[in-house]
Amino acid sequence: MGKIVIAIDGYSGCGKSSTAKAVAKDLGYTYIDSGAMYRAVTLHFLNNFVTLTNPHEIEKALKSLEITFHLNPETGKQETYLNGLNVEREIRKMNISSKVSEVAAIKDVRKELVAQQQRLGKNKAVVMDGRDIGSVVFPNAELKVFMSADLLTRAERRQQELLEKGDIVDLEEIKNNLSERDRIDSSRKESPLIKVSDAIEIDTSNLTFDEQVAQIVNKAKQIIEKEKSYAGNHR
Ligand code: DC
Repeated sequence: MGKIVIAIDGYSGCGKSSTAKAVAKDLGYTYIDSGAMYRAVTLHFLNNFVTLTNPHEIEKALKSLEITFHLNPETGKQETYLNGLNVEREIRKMNISSKVSEVAAIKDVRKELVAQQQRLGKNKAVVMDGRDIGSVVFPNAELKVFMSADLLTRAERRQQELLEKGDIVDLEEIKNNLSERDRIDSSRKESPLIKVSDAIEIDTSNLTFDEQVAQIVNKAKQIIEKEKSYAGNHR
């Protein structure tokens, strides 16, 4: 199978991560959760009492930070590590969700994480999801997807996900968190969430999970085939 980069951007909670993971699995690609990286930085800043308006504290904290992903052999799922510690569960909690957009709006944080993300994707064969993947991290990605879904659908799905992890959270609280994050992510100065003109848009409100995965996988396979025949004709 040929190697391309698949960039999946979109609003909070519209199923980007689980879709991206399933697409990567189908194609035998690596999945990279860029949101987990912003969440890990947020946790690191909270643990170290970093003042978000102090560039020196931010610079120092970013230097003492290592984010890695490792496969959990028991679940087969990829988990996020911060300085060698598994933080996968902690970074999904509401205290991080309510702070992460503020941290993700900081220029130096974005500069550092974008560089790391570009290194992770340099050999292609990756599916990366986030807010600026098609616009900033991989502007030359062969396939760009912009995912959306209505707010209530997103909140209900997120509530179910949290419940499956044992966290009972009020639907209104989740709705407020999602719309507040959408607002900050779309209006920030540093690489705001936008739908780039060469992205295909998928509204998942009325699609099943398998349908949304299949749409992206099919599109990816078409592009891979095209690239192969182009390479074949120009040998
Ligand atoms: O995908 P997520 O909900 O786990 O992302 C958490 C936050 O991180 C999100 O509110 C915005 C930010 N983010 C970003 O600014 N750029 C990315 N590429 C990924 C996430």
